[in-house]
Amino acid sequence: VIESAVTVDEDIETAVANILAQMTLEEKVGQMIQPNLLEVTPEEAKEYKLGSLLNGGGAWPNEDKYASAADWAETADEYWEALEEAYADRGFRIPFIWATDAVHGHNNVYGATVFPHNIGLGAANNPDLIEQIGQATAEEVAATGLDWTFAPTVAAPRDYRWGRVYEGYSEDPEIIYQYASRMVQGLQGGAEGLKSETHVISNVKHWVGDGGTYDGEDRGENHYTEEYLRNIHATGYFAGLDAGAQVVMSSFNSWHNDANYDQNGTGDYNYKMHGSKYMLNDVLKNQMGFDGLIVTDWNGQSEITNCTSANCPEAVNAGNDVFMVTENSNWKAFYQNVIDQVNDGTISEERIDDAVTRILRVKMRAGLWDKPKPSERELAGNDDVLGSDAHRAIARQAVSESLVLLKNKNGILPLSTEASYIVTGSAANDITKQTGGWSLTWQGTDNTLEDDFPGATTLLMAIEDVVGEENVYTSTEDAPADAIAIVVIGEDPYAEMYGDISASETLEFASLNSGYAEDSAEVIALAEAGYPVVTVFYSGRPLYVNEEIMASDAFVAAWLPGTEAGGITDVLFAEDGADFKGRLSYSWPNTVCSTTINRDAPNIENYTTPVDGQTGELIEQETTGEYAPLFPYGYGLGYASSDTE
Ligand code: GLC
Repeated sequence: VIESAVTVDEDIETAVANILAQMTLEEKVGQMIQPNLLEVTPEEAKEYKLGSLLNGGGAWPNEDKYASAADWAETADEYWEALEEAYADRGFRIPFIWATDAVHGHNNVYGATVFPHNIGLGAANNPDLIEQIGQATAEEVAATGLDWTFAPTVAAPRDYRWGRVYEGYSEDPEIIYQYASRMVQGLQGGAEGLKSETHVISNVKHWVGDGGTYDGEDRGENHYTEEYLRNIHATGYFAGLDAGAQVVMSSFNSWHNDANYDQNGTGDYNYKMHGSKYMLNDVLKNQMGFDGLIVTDWNGQSEITNCTSANCPEAVNAGNDVFMVTENSNWKAFYQNVIDQVNDGTISEERIDDAVTRILRVKMRAGLWDKPKPSERELAGNDDVLGSDAHRAIARQAVSESLVLLKNKNGILPLSTEASYIVTGSAANDITKQTGGWSLTWQGTDNTLEDDFPGATTLLMAIEDVVGEENVYTSTEDAPADAIAIVVIGEDPYAEMYGDISASETLEFASLNSGYAEDSAEVIALAEAGYPVVTVFYSGRPLYVNEEIMASDAFVAAWLPGTEAGGITDVLFAEDGADFKGRLSYSWPNTVCSTTINRDAPNIENYTTPVDGQTGELIEQETTGEYAPLFPYGYGLGYASSDTE
């Protein structure tokens, strides 16, 4: 049972009941609808008396990628004021709120600090830092006048073919449990902080089992037994909800195993979490006692059998409270369908009242009735908060502490500031590989450093800052014979299913999409030419890079560090005594097929009951048999460690 840090406040409960009792069915349903910014105007928000909106990845005010903090806050004002007008003659108010994916800083916003993605934070293994990052992120979200972030992700990614491994802190609940608490604390600031103008509503996601799908398929089938679903995939919820997170987001994956066959009695053996009354209402709300609100994922209701984005009473009855209806403005049809389904008895009024009670409760706990309109709040419109020196310093520290040193032959590291360097590789000066997905846009592509990330530093720039541009060469052409090669290689940015590695592909970096073959060739060519090679690897997950590691004198896993690559040179050059502190929060694969090489892999057959959702046939589950990673969970060298071969 959850013991939330945001406890029940009888005054709030009374006020909520009082407003609910006065609301019409239309007003209640309006609170449950959450369109995308691009598909709703302030006038429509007023007409339908909507409760909230979200901006999806790459949706900005006025569709302007370079919108300032003031632009965001002024746009938020328009919706806020529209709802104030909507309720002007009703004798009560229901303030409007705006949600966003601030998942590694306020990453949709021009000029914001972009922190390392969660996979790097997991390696940093520094819970205090997590809370600082949450606090800094909350301030940057508040600077734009927004109220709610769809963070943290508390998935436990178990198969490296999943496109969202980097959004998880670790394969193992050991780290997730601590981090979920501290990130929620940083974002919300406890019950009192949540009412303040410098914190935001946090949202643990995606409930439940997103990181454990078969073959790592995004939105795929999770076959875990309920015991392992709880113990591996749900620990972040116990921790995050105890810390007071007010929102849970339903997951796209489906879940089924022997025990829960046809749990809903629908004959649908492979049912989506979005439609699971058992998991949303019975377990999360009733058994665990969660009293905040459940929000669907992006049109998540549409993936339930017999549902569309515009029509899905099953998703309402299962226990979702707010619906992200974000396709072709279907939110208006969804709104009308729910009203009709309440009137014809398909959906009970009690279910609607449960949803709206939770929505009003969360809004009151966030102090919205006492806050001024977004642009008049403490930090709102302040571009100095976005990407502030203080926040970038926290990000730089996080980058340094996230780095994992996998090899350091003959102690080639730390590097000298007096030497010459050949700095090459596809990721050396590529801000998109450095920041990854969810950076200004959903997929993190099409960005340029100069235009899109003011104040950001690529690794090439950071090295030039440390050793002087005159000592940095971008090829062997005119480099001195005693130059050291620093090769920065990495994955292209991706998000969600766009990052999935299909079951027919392997984890071999060099072979994944043709783009990486050049990176691998660069490492090997420089080594064969006799240069000492330091390889820095940007990736959203561990991958098979044995040949590149063998060819390198030193190999650093840098994950997706974000805008502050100075944190990498701080450690490479041991600035002020900096050392490698990062330790693997994911086991590192030893073969191209080690896709699920988790710490407890040997008993994988014990925690899944793989049956085909449609036929009920047992699916052969590959097991690794023994846990034999190239580098185990928790591995990482420091300068004091012995040199490695
Ligand atoms: C996406 C993601 C979810 C995100 C939501 C809103 O599909 O699954 O993590 O919060 O949509 O952008």
